[in-house]
Amino acid sequence: MILLDGKKVSANVKAEVAKEVKELNEKGASVCLAVVIVGEDPASKIYVRNKKRACEECGIKSLEYALPENTSQEELLSLINKLNSDKEVNGILVQMPLPKHLSEKAVIDAISPLKDVDAFTDANVGKIMIGSYNFLPCTPAGVMELLKSENIDIEGKNCVVIGRSNIVGKPMSMLLLHKNATVTICHSRTRDIASICRNADLIVAAVGRKHFLTADMVKEGAIIIDVGINRDENGKVCGDVDFENVKEKASYITPVPGGVGPMTISVLMKNTLKAAALQRDTEI
Ligand code: GUN
Repeated sequence: MILLDGKKVSANVKAEVAKEVKELNEKGASVCLAVVIVGEDPASKIYVRNKKRACEECGIKSLEYALPENTSQEELLSLINKLNSDKEVNGILVQMPLPKHLSEKAVIDAISPLKDVDAFTDANVGKIMIGSYNFLPCTPAGVMELLKSENIDIEGKNCVVIGRSNIVGKPMSMLLLHKNATVTICHSRTRDIASICRNADLIVAAVGRKHFLTADMVKEGAIIIDVGINRDENGKVCGDVDFENVKEKASYITPVPGGVGPMTISVLMKNTLKAAALQRDTEI
């Protein structure tokens, strides 16, 4: 079994980004990401902190807008409009989930597709479907980077994605398909997930339930990617995979923490750099 080390691979990606940012700085240009968080969700606060830290490592300027829980839709939309037209801001990230009284769709729709470093807007989701990207979807692209780091070829492989969210499951399936995998998407209404998984050469678990994927669901030698971030009985961070037992059967497996999570953030850094380039191009 080989551990897919997200910390190591993401450090390499961030180092590449940092090098390019430094070159831009030397030419007098800067790169800036605006991060918006509404409310007090503890997990979201940790993610935002990690994103800011990665910006610092890459030499990307970060602006944090921490808004109170009772922020109105109008206030949030007016902040986004302000960031859209601010020439200093290259990327805009609104941390999800938002408090219940706010419409995530309306907020995503308000973000300029040229600054949409999460690739959440309709325009960028459409581009992902077609395979002509402005921005790579952060978590799925992070998974692809991890596979690439070990030269894992997925052409013709049976890949199973468990979960159909707009953030992970759907775009993940597209990226695997673009690499010529045969992709099955499983979800809460899928019948007999276990037997579908047992036929998989690669499984991406993006369910949001601890220990969802157990060893009896995994074929000997399968590649296991764990996107989940949950807490176990003792409050310790764990993924969707029963790691201790599944690792005995897997050929490659991601740990949680230290697997997909750091990769998501390093793709975000890449996207912010890309956003700066897109804005330079559209200014001309
Ligand atoms: N919440 C969970 N994952 C993400 C992500 O990748 N981007 C944003 N904006 N919110 C999230």
